[in-house]
Amino acid sequence: MAHIGDIEKACGVLRAGGLVALPTETVYGLGANAEDPVAVARIFQTKGRPPTHPLIVHIAAAEQLDEWVEEVPAAARLLARRFWPGPLTLVLRRGRRVPLEATGGLETVAVRVPDHPVALALLSAFGGGVTAPSANRFGAVSPTTVDHVRAELGDAVDFVLDGGPCEVGVESTIVDVTGENPAILRPGGVTREDLEAVLGCPVEVPATTGVRVPGQHPSHYAPRARVALVEPEKLVAEAELAQGAGYRVGVLLPPALATARVKAHAVIALPGSMHAYAQGLYGFLRDLDQYGCDLIITSLPAEEGLGSAIANRLRRAAGPRPTA
Ligand code: TXA
Ligand code: MG
Repeated sequence: MAHIGDIEKACGVLRAGGLVALPTETVYGLGANAEDPVAVARIFQTKGRPPTHPLIVHIAAAEQLDEWVEEVPAAARLLARRFWPGPLTLVLRRGRRVPLEATGGLETVAVRVPDHPVALALLSAFGGGVTAPSANRFGAVSPTTVDHVRAELGDAVDFVLDGGPCEVGVESTIVDVTGENPAILRPGGVTREDLEAVLGCPVEVPATTGVRVPGQHPSHYAPRARVALVEPEKLVAEAELAQGAGYRVGVLLPPALATARVKAHAVIALPGSMHAYAQGLYGFLRDLDQYGCDLIITSLPAEEGLGSAIANRLRRAAGPRPTA
């Protein structure tokens, strides 16, 4: 676990234009000084991420929000007060302090206050904003432990802060508050139900969730193995069929099928609680890659609460891959 000397060192790296991997409650991020366009450009190079794909600016406290955005609508103020620090990202009109390099050229900016003691210590000590995408290669599974970070980025990052395993396990919920009605761009750690309870009105989930940016490939959050989503009643038969056809099948077995006998290369029994499922999801996908599986078969959880975020990531992981 990071200690105070590490926080000071990480601050120095950020001030010198370097990259710091930092823990948050959702996933580990790859951080740079948000106001340093050269450092921000290094994030894109390191991840292999297209420069049009905007980043999230992390700040130490809700009170700093006004410094980073043009204006704060009432709904945004309410959400920030209720959910920060926490797994909620707000998209607002970009303040002049935010370089276009960080927003992929957009006139809006995504901001959040992460709920992790190490991240908050770093952000308070640093004083400025830290742009941080998930600390993985573009399109791959997000890291939820410091070992995942090292496996993804190795020496490409200047300093790694260890904050233990991430509590939430899936990325923050992204809410666009620039329009007339708040809209969820990416389901995540704060549920739609939570948002609606605070705002007192329905919150939209546009059909194109998460694919706001031109050129973004449908496949994302993806392990090396292909991912196939099947109906739960067909899961056992499909796994057996694929295993028989020569695939090394990895199964993420839903709790409802816990007693089923599955013929596969590897089987991971999914936890019954959605909290534990979200927390473990990316680790399970990485484990199945490690076991040498080339096809992962599972079924989607019910799309309510955290189940919406899990289903979103599994669908994206199962999306078409680049052919090159
Ligand atoms: O939980 C999280 O949000 C983690 C941790 C590290 O904070 N970060 C994360 O960052 O997931 P990243 O870069 O992997 O995903 C950021 C998402 C992208 O899908 C991007 O398109 C969206 O945020 N985004 C950023 N700025 C935006 C903007 N101005 N308008 C719309 N979407 C935006
Ligand atoms: Mg990411």
